[in-house]
Amino acid sequence: MAFPQNFMDELVARNDIVDVVNSFVPLISKGGSYWGCCPFHSEKTPSFHVLPDKQIYYCFGCKKGGGVVNFIMDIENLPFPDAVRFLAKRAGMEVPEEEGDREAGRRRQRLLDLNRDAARFYYQLLQQPEGRAVQEYLDRRQIKKSTAVKFGMGASLDAWDVLLNAMTKKGYTKAELLEAGLVVQNKNGGLYDKFRNRLMLPVVDTRGDVVAFGSRVLDKSEPKYMNSSETPVYSKRRVLYGLNLAKKTKRPNIILCEGNLDIVTLHQAGFDNAVASMGTALTVEQTRLLSRFTKELVLCYDNDNAGKIATERALQILNGSEFSVKVLQLPRRRTEDGELVKQDADDFIKFQGPDAFERLLSGSENGVEFRMAQVAGKYDFTSDEARVAYCGEISDLLASLPGAVEREVYTVRAAETAKITPEAMRLEVQRAFKRRTSREKRAELRKDLNPAAQLQPKERSLRYENLRSARAEEGILRLLYRDPELFPGEPPLREEQFSSPLLGRAYARMWQAKAEGRTMSPATLFSELEPEAASHLSAILQQPESTQNAAQAMADYIRIIQTEADKRAGGADVDPLLAATEKYKDKKGTGGKQHG
Ligand code: UTP
Ligand code: MN
Repeated sequence: MAFPQNFMDELVARNDIVDVVNSFVPLISKGGSYWGCCPFHSEKTPSFHVLPDKQIYYCFGCKKGGGVVNFIMDIENLPFPDAVRFLAKRAGMEVPEEEGDREAGRRRQRLLDLNRDAARFYYQLLQQPEGRAVQEYLDRRQIKKSTAVKFGMGASLDAWDVLLNAMTKKGYTKAELLEAGLVVQNKNGGLYDKFRNRLMLPVVDTRGDVVAFGSRVLDKSEPKYMNSSETPVYSKRRVLYGLNLAKKTKRPNIILCEGNLDIVTLHQAGFDNAVASMGTALTVEQTRLLSRFTKELVLCYDNDNAGKIATERALQILNGSEFSVKVLQLPRRRTEDGELVKQDADDFIKFQGPDAFERLLSGSENGVEFRMAQVAGKYDFTSDEARVAYCGEISDLLASLPGAVEREVYTVRAAETAKITPEAMRLEVQRAFKRRTSREKRAELRKDLNPAAQLQPKERSLRYENLRSARAEEGILRLLYRDPELFPGEPPLREEQFSSPLLGRAYARMWQAKAEGRTMSPATLFSELEPEAASHLSAILQQPESTQNAAQAMADYIRIIQTEADKRAGGADVDPLLAATEKYKDKKGTGGKQHG
């Protein structure tokens, strides 16, 4: 997996972090560095900091950070080697491929090829007499031939090894079929097809690769839907069913639904902007994916309790994001017996038609209206007590709205609902607003009062065992990465003297680079680290460090680290260098304490 050091150095040097980030997020220059709205969490005021001198980024909101390679891994959703290839291509560089990388790349490609061949195989079965059961099911659901073709639908047969045999014949191994999740192993080690007697729905990502399958039974049996398990090419958090088609829509927004077949029906009815998250709650990764294609989302979940909860959860994820969000509420349907039943988008289109859906779409409420209606629905406004309780709850919601105008508009509306004067409602909201701010201040204060907790890395596994030493280690790194000339000659400390293994490693790598006559950019180091470690180091390096008295600061840091290392080694009276050596020996199990 390792690329040669000099290649990585050049890659980082030729992909300026400001240019790269700027092509995804607009950045504003401010006093030598850049700020933008973080692409990794939802926000409206910029807390994403890019530092051109160190070639790193750090978000004060979500605490993600790293160098240019980490950025591409995160935003393009790529594993390390692919992010490197992406940047190499961007800079017009040739990638020195190692056998290991080529192998991993080949394996991924094999899985994608296998999925595509399986999709073709299911597709062909659907066109043949054996696929009649599925074809009849499509007819029952009024799915046209052209729609089925557009979605690449297929049929799996009522048999145990049809796909297994066909794909083995094509040269795929049993291990590959298992890894792709297309076959399953029984207790005796025998293999059989996972998908049998089902309508097959290939899941295609935005690059056009078949990454997984969804499938539906043809009758009332369980489970109704069966989807591919997670594989090296499929993570359900990162994919949306139908987005491969919806990304080409001319409509101004994207509609999010719950079910795969809702998507199919909507596309067939002319709403080619619908996507579904395949039975999972909307994830942050999915919103990031969507942000590449649209600025406006319409939530169209089922109008039952579960759907309302899903809507509320999605609104929370999208709260304060750059998306404008609307909620399309499907009405319940009255059956012939007069019963009110839930309907999803698919039902609605069938019973009321596309025009009615278009009207709902254009009349969709925004997220605030939806949440206000949810609160109002809880109260019976004929009782004074309920009106008072409503005002209490709604003022909390109104106080949480970020914009002053928005707050005012909906305050007036809430007053109408509660049949009180707007003035009274405003007072109530102001009070809730104050409560909220003082709550936030108290939380801040608590944080300030506990500085030790603040200094610790966010990630538990990186926690500092010796805070005093770790602070000095951080300081050394900041100075070192700012000006390597502060370290003439031999290294003043050894890696083992650092109390934090991560900081020690960053220090050692810098020296190694120096010894090899290379300039070490943090971005090169970060690309070797786990995301949490890279984020933490970014946080450290982006803090300001005074260059005045740098030499004195350096000497102080070194002294602190040595003293703390001595203590750990068993006594402050021994020679620091010796103690550290002994400790190192102990750790390796080659000897005990021999000095004295
Ligand atoms: P629904 O049960 O609401 O399905 O599940 P639906 O789309 O209305 O199904 P039809 O109309 O009866 O065909 C919504 C989505 O949740 C996932 C599927 O992606 C489904 O489309 N799901 C549902 C599962 O993954 N597994 C299940 O057993 C059920
Ligand atoms: Mn349905």
